[in-house]
Amino acid sequence: MNPLAVQLNRLSLANPILVASGTFGYAKEMTAFVDFKQLGGIVPKTVTPQPRAGNPPPRTVETASGLLNSIGLDNDGFDQFMADKLPYLAGLGTSVIVNIAAKTCDEFKRMADVLNAAKGVAAVELNISCPNVSGGVDFATNPDLAADVVRTVCSAGDLPVIAKLTPNVTSVIPIAQAVADAGADAVSLINTFQGMAIDWKKRQPVLGNVLGGLSGPAIKPLALRIVWQVAQAVKIPIIGVGGIQCLDDVMEFIVAGASAVQIGTANFYNPGLANSLVTELLQVVQEQQVASFTELIGTLKIPVRD
Ligand code: SIN
Repeated sequence: MNPLAVQLNRLSLANPILVASGTFGYAKEMTAFVDFKQLGGIVPKTVTPQPRAGNPPPRTVETASGLLNSIGLDNDGFDQFMADKLPYLAGLGTSVIVNIAAKTCDEFKRMADVLNAAKGVAAVELNISCPNVSGGVDFATNPDLAADVVRTVCSAGDLPVIAKLTPNVTSVIPIAQAVADAGADAVSLINTFQGMAIDWKKRQPVLGNVLGGLSGPAIKPLALRIVWQVAQAVKIPIIGVGGIQCLDDVMEFIVAGASAVQIGTANFYNPGLANSLVTELLQVVQEQQVASFTELIGTLKIPVRD
C-alpha cells in the first residue's frame, strides 16, 4: 500500500503534493530542477479558449512575505495547449490537472469536451477565480454562477472536476457548497487575495493593471482559516493552496481538513520544494505511526473551554 496515495472522489493521486497553476509554467521550464514522477500532480498555467496577451507590465511585485501578480491569464490559447503542451505534460509520469478559464459556460464546455476526449488528462481545474481579468464573469463570487460552470463541465464527460475558488468574497462556504452540489469532485482553496502596491513618491500604483492577486507566506493564515471553515461545511475533498513553503505548512493544511495541497509561489524561489515535501511527508507518516497520511486529514482539535 502507498501511504501517500489519496482519492479526491474520482481523482486518484499517488500523493497529495501538487504544484499550483501559474507557478510552474507548462513544466518544461522546470525540467532541470524537478523530478516530475515524484509529484502528486502538475497543474499547468491557466488556458483560455483564445490566446491572451495578458496585462500591461509591471505584472509582479514582491511584498512583505508575498508576491502580488497581475499576469492577466497570459497564454497561447487552448488549441496551442492541446497541440504543443499537453503531449509533453502527458509524458512526464505524473497526474496532469488541466486548468481552464473562460468567459461563458459554453466556452468552458467546448474545452471540457476536448479534454474529456484527450489522453493524458487526470482532471480539470476550473479557474473561476482569477482576480486579474476584466470584462469576464466573476463566476466564483456567486454560488449560482459557480455551480453553473461546474454543472456544465461535469456534463462534458467523466473527467474529475475541481473548482478553484476565490477568497475575495464575504464567505467561501456558500460557493463551496454550491459547487459541491453541482458535482465538483474537489475544491482548490484558495486563489489569490486582491491587493495593491503603491509607489507613493510617484503617486502611482506599481502594477500596470493597478490591482493584483497576493500569494505567498503572507496569506497562509488566511488560506488555513478558509480551508478549516469550508471543511466543516462541505463533504467534498479540499486542496489547500496558499503560502506553503515547508512540511509543517503542509501538515497544518492537512490537519485543518485539506486532502491535498498545491505548492505555488515557493516554486519561484525553491523549485525542488515539492519533491522534498513528498519525501518529508513519508517520514511524517512513519513518525506519526499511521498507515496512511489520510488518517491525519481534518484531525485538528479545538480545545473546549468552560
Ligand atoms: C493571472 O494570470 O493573472 C493569475 C491567475 C490567477 O490568479 O488565477
